[in-house]
Amino acid sequence: MSVIEVRNLFKVFGNDPKRVFPLIEKGAKKDEILKKTGCAIGINNASFSIEKKEIFVLMGLSGSGKSTVIRCLNRLIRPTRGEILIDGQDIMKMNKEELLQVRRNTLSMVFQHFGLLPHRSIIKNVEYGLEVAGIPAEERRKKAQEALELVGLKGYENSMPNELSGGMQQRVGLARALANDPEVLLMDEAFSALDPLIRTQMQDELQELQARMHKTIVFITHDLDEALKLGDRIAIMKDGEIAQIGTPEEILTNPADDYVKRFVMNVDRSKVITASALMRKVDVITVPKDGPHVAVRLMEKKGLSSVFAVDGERRLAGMVTIDDAVKLERGKKKDLTPALTTDIYVTGPDTPIADLLGTAMTANYAIAIQDENGRLMGQLDRATILAEMYDDEEEAMTPLDEILENNEEAEMEREA
Ligand SMILES: Nc1ncnc2c1ncn2[C@@H]1O[C@H](COP(=O)(O)OP(=O)(O)OP(=O)(O)O)[C@@H](O)[C@H]1O
Ligand SMILES: [Mg+2]
Repeated sequence: MSVIEVRNLFKVFGNDPKRVFPLIEKGAKKDEILKKTGCAIGINNASFSIEKKEIFVLMGLSGSGKSTVIRCLNRLIRPTRGEILIDGQDIMKMNKEELLQVRRNTLSMVFQHFGLLPHRSIIKNVEYGLEVAGIPAEERRKKAQEALELVGLKGYENSMPNELSGGMQQRVGLARALANDPEVLLMDEAFSALDPLIRTQMQDELQELQARMHKTIVFITHDLDEALKLGDRIAIMKDGEIAQIGTPEEILTNPADDYVKRFVMNVDRSKVITASALMRKVDVITVPKDGPHVAVRLMEKKGLSSVFAVDGERRLAGMVTIDDAVKLERGKKKDLTPALTTDIYVTGPDTPIADLLGTAMTANYAIAIQDENGRLMGQLDRATILAEMYDDEEEAMTPLDEILENNEEAEMEREA
């Protein structure tokens, strides 16, 4: 079941917001509605669901409605229309008490500007939410202590906020959110105020934390690289609408419209697209069952110059070239195994293709993609990698073009 389910959510700011619905239904856009009515559309018919343990990133230009969405989730603001289910419960129908419970036990917010109380020590800042919730002193101290350790701030319990760097202060913010062990973390531009180096470090730490704690995280960012790095799925917002929801790969490879395309234009695709997205189905022979004859027939039929060999469990056994297989066949040999080479580059499905570029440049054969049990999943051809990385961008020469050109020259020289 989804942790959060949002259905046809609208938020209109301004007087008598309901009067704008007829305009929305006629397809009027945000600017027009603002001009005509003075009402600002915060969210326009957003529907999505967030699964347990995923990092769901909300991304979009300033004013596109990201913060409004996150604030509706914990009902810091009241949606104009629509449904929000948290663990299957409609928060629009909750009374004050129930809402408090959800905010305390299910959702925790981490803010951009840390929101620390300046006159409280670090440990007392982390304890704050627990204190408000009426948790006994000893218990909340213990929980706060644990949360501080989680974010690597053991030893700073009695420091004051202004004695800590920005990155450390944000860790305190994170610790405070983690202290009540919420199911969902809501993070609105949580790392945006940090300088780039610290920011990258915090992203890494969040990923590590997530690997251990498996929270559900709703993460808002302006930064595409941050979105791609952290997001299991990304929702791109435009003028209060959700323009597209998808995995980083889906968004990059299949942008829904020009707005999304503009967002992803400058990203280094090779860091995000993984081997599994580009691999193709692989033709194999099975050893020792198949001999040289079968191998030659297969390669002829498929127009291949080499083919992977697997064992009965589909584990990679090696590769044989057409030349070697033909030699064995002519020699009337039945066993192919002496001709198998294991000089193959093997990688997992999640390797970014950027990491495979060097291999693609030098490898003689396709790259084999193996699952965690050592079974052959597919193959990745050098041409595919290169085509993907320099896809339809008519740029000046890339370093890669240069290498290719040099190689070609070298080859021509050798032939001459
Ligand atoms: N309290 C409010 N009163 C009136 N309009 C508001 C209010 N809060 C937000 N809006 C409007 O709703 C729209 C969405 O704002 P929101 O703050 O959600 O954007 P955002 O995507 O978080 O932007 P940013 O990246 O700048 O934080 C904007 O047009 C904004 O002007
Ligand atoms: Mg915002």
